[in-house]
This record gives sequence, C-alpha cells and structure tokens, in this order.
Amino acid sequence: MKTTVVAVINQKGGTGKTTTTINLGSALSKLGKKVLLIDLDPQSNLSYSLAVTNPDGTLADVLLGGKNINDILVETGGMWVAPGSNDLVDVEISLVTQPEREKFLKRVLAEVKGYDYILIDCPPSLSVLTLNALTAAQQVLIPLQMEVLTLQGLDQILNTIEKVKKAFNPKLKIKGIVVVMFDIRRKLSQEVLEYLQENVKERIFESHIRLNVKLAEAPSFGRSVLDYDASSNGAKDYKALAAEIVGA
Ligand SMILES: Nc1ncnc2c1ncn2[C@@H]1O[C@H](COP(=O)(O)OP(=O)(O)O)[C@@H](O)[C@H]1O
Ligand SMILES: [Mg+2]
Repeated sequence: MKTTVVAVINQKGGTGKTTTTINLGSALSKLGKKVLLIDLDPQSNLSYSLAVTNPDGTLADVLLGGKNINDILVETGGMWVAPGSNDLVDVEISLVTQPEREKFLKRVLAEVKGYDYILIDCPPSLSVLTLNALTAAQQVLIPLQMEVLTLQGLDQILNTIEKVKKAFNPKLKIKGIVVVMFDIRRKLSQEVLEYLQENVKERIFESHIRLNVKLAEAPSFGRSVLDYDASSNGAKDYKALAAEIVGA
C-alpha cells in the first residue's frame, strides 16, 4: 500500500491550515481512505478541534522521548490523530542542535503502516518543525486567502519549498494551492484569484473553500464540518476538494 504524505503549510497564522487539514482529512476518510492527521503545531489547535484532549501521549513524547507513534494515535470521526501539545516548543528548541534535525518526523512516520493519506498540520512559521514536515512529505498543499499580501507570502513559501527540495527532499512536489475563506461577493478576492491564475505556475485547485461560518463553529463541537453540518457549504467545498485530490 502506498501512503501519500501531505504537508499543509503557510508560514502565516490564521490562513486555514488547521481547518483544511481536518476537513480535507474528514472528506478523504468519507471517500473510504484511511487517514492520519499529524498535529505538528505547538498550539495544538487540530487536536483541540477534534476533541482530542488529555491523550496518553503526544507527538512531543515521540519526537523527544522515544515513545512509539503507534502508541499515541487516537481515533476520532473516522480518522486517526497524532496529538500535538505545547511541549512541541521544547522539541523545536532541542532539535535545533541535533544532527540531521530535519529528519526526525520522517523516521517516525516510517513506523506507521496502512494509511492512504497522512496530513501534517504545520505551525505558522518556517521553523525546524515545518522543515521536518517538508522533509517527511511527498506533497505540499498551500491554503491561501485571496488578499494582496498573500501574494508576497506565497513567494516566500515557494522559495522555502525550493530550498528544502534541493537540500533534503528532491522528490517533494507542490500538489497545489487551495483557495480558502473565499468571498465570492468581494471584488478584490476575484481579482487576486485572477492574478494568481495568470501568474503562478503552481496548480490552483478548482474547488475553492468559501467563507462559511459552519467551518468556524465545528471545532467547538469537536467535529469536522462534515460531521457537524453535512449540508453546509463548508462540507460541500471540502468534499469537492477531496474528490479533486483523489482523482488527480
Ligand atoms: N472557509 C472558512 N470560513 C470561515 N472561517 C474559516 C474558514 N477557514 C478557516 N476559518 C476560521 O479562521 C480561523 C483560522 O483558521 P485556521 O484553520 O485555524 O488557520 P491556521 O491553522 O492557518 O492558523 C479559524 O477560526 C477558523 O475557524
Ligand atoms: Mg493552525
């Protein structure tokens, strides 16, 4: 069985990484795929949003303490989660001085078997943790809001990916850009999207994730939007994205 490891990255906070990781994962699992979500952000929003609190162990115990990743996985909403925690800050600090510091997550993920997709929710920085995600992944997914400043941010992400590719992971591919929090009625959103389509060589998925309050509400219920409100635009958009990703 071939496992596809996808890093969901954007160095800015609040750009829809966690929302995309959870809901794309949920949509993929409903297509019959076995999905593992990795919460690599010290803020552990992903774990919290899926009501994975007080787990037996977290990713920090695996990356630092030598615990086996298979012993910390938690099943929720038809998916599996490797819980994060604030201890990932300590991981980050101690990794910096380690040899081959970028390869820790890759080695850990080599120990999990049987998944179709492993989605990694990255911190909002280009830190050593993000470097680990980019080294462990085969593909990168970039959630992007249609704002003027995101164009500048995109350049930085693409540059970083290019550097990681050269240094650590030559097979790394940019799977595509996911347009998130898209406001159809806003002229600027349309203009930025058109600019991107004309000027960026990377694939931009046709399924855009619209602004939808259900996506913001679902985490309070510890569920993906597909389980919280299956008929919402948020659920429809992430289902469409999953179908596009699986078909591609
Ligand atoms: N399409 C959307 N519509 C409405 N709110 C959204 C949407 N996507 C994300 N959000 C909200 O925006 C905030 C930031 O999203 P999040 O996924 O946590 O970003 P990141 O992980 O990049 O920091 C969260 O409160 C989330 O619920
Ligand atoms: Mg996040």
